[in-house]
Amino acid sequence: MQEGFTARAAANIALVKYWGATDLAHVIPCNASLSMTLDECASECFARAAPDALSDEILLYNGEALLPAEGEFHRRIAEHLDRLRDIFDCMTPLYIATRNRFPAAAGLASSASGFCALTAAVSHALGKPAAGANLSDLARRSGSGSASRSAFGGYVRWPAEDADIAAARDSDAALPAVPIADEEYWPLADVIAIVDANPKKISSLDGHRRAASSPHFRARLAEVPNRLLRVEAALAARDLDLLGATLEEDAIELHLVAMSSQPPIHYWRPGTIAALECVRSLRAGGISAWATMDAGPNVHVICRPEDAPTVAESLRALDPVRRVIEDKTGGAPCVYPGFPEGGWVI
Ligand code: PMV
Repeated sequence: MQEGFTARAAANIALVKYWGATDLAHVIPCNASLSMTLDECASECFARAAPDALSDEILLYNGEALLPAEGEFHRRIAEHLDRLRDIFDCMTPLYIATRNRFPAAAGLASSASGFCALTAAVSHALGKPAAGANLSDLARRSGSGSASRSAFGGYVRWPAEDADIAAARDSDAALPAVPIADEEYWPLADVIAIVDANPKKISSLDGHRRAASSPHFRARLAEVPNRLLRVEAALAARDLDLLGATLEEDAIELHLVAMSSQPPIHYWRPGTIAALECVRSLRAGGISAWATMDAGPNVHVICRPEDAPTVAESLRALDPVRRVIEDKTGGAPCVYPGFPEGGWVI
């Protein structure tokens, strides 16, 4: 029997977000995005070639046991396994076991880390080990564009193409993310306020699909290139006030687009507003803390590592905040032979 490989990949928090696709089926974004890879919030996936099996076996660790994956989760993984086998020109069935290192029921999106870890583990199990740009591009094809950014540590940009180039592109052409600076360059904290741990009702895929129906979508696309320049300048100068003001503006605008799409998408909950107010009052008190939200109600607060305990304490004191996770800038995925270190128990 083949030994198999485990891959660990972390989630990432977008500082300038991907929202809307020119070609959603081939995961071609309307705008470039830029993210920070996290550390604690990670997924681990074990993959082993199972040449004697009749079909794939896909298991998810629920904190106590490995159980067969079900529904939409199973469908998206099974589809990606077929896609990877097609690309690698190989028919071998696979045994897959996956888990999230995120605190249970945190309501945090795991598709970026999950698909990046799955892609890395499967590529090794099928003898076509992928890393760097190759891993990024293969992970992107899973349908979760943000997975392309989890292939690198630190700060990562996923480019877009001008509309006319995108329209003429070969839909199979690569579009990998590009690392800008590693995690040592500028370690920052991401203090995450969980205000609702339930799975979101409207997926980011639906969000991308509806984005262009918002009257604010074009205005956002016109502004994103300037915002990316500001984020890059902020990274070059390690200027947290410039980075923070820009990332907060971009997050609010994504939600403005979502709320004004047809039909509208309201990801915010009362706790989201409470956390945003808390961040503003932290700033008024002299702490450089800045908020961003993905396609969900939970609030990521980017700040200096030395301010993270104060930020976490302030967020914890808010009634609607269920829990707080303190994460930070993290590194690239890693792959090693065998089962996850420490077994399956978290
Ligand atoms: O990668 P997807 O399809 O799950 O979309 C990601 C959407 C956001 O998280 C809201 C933004 C981003 O760039 O990560």
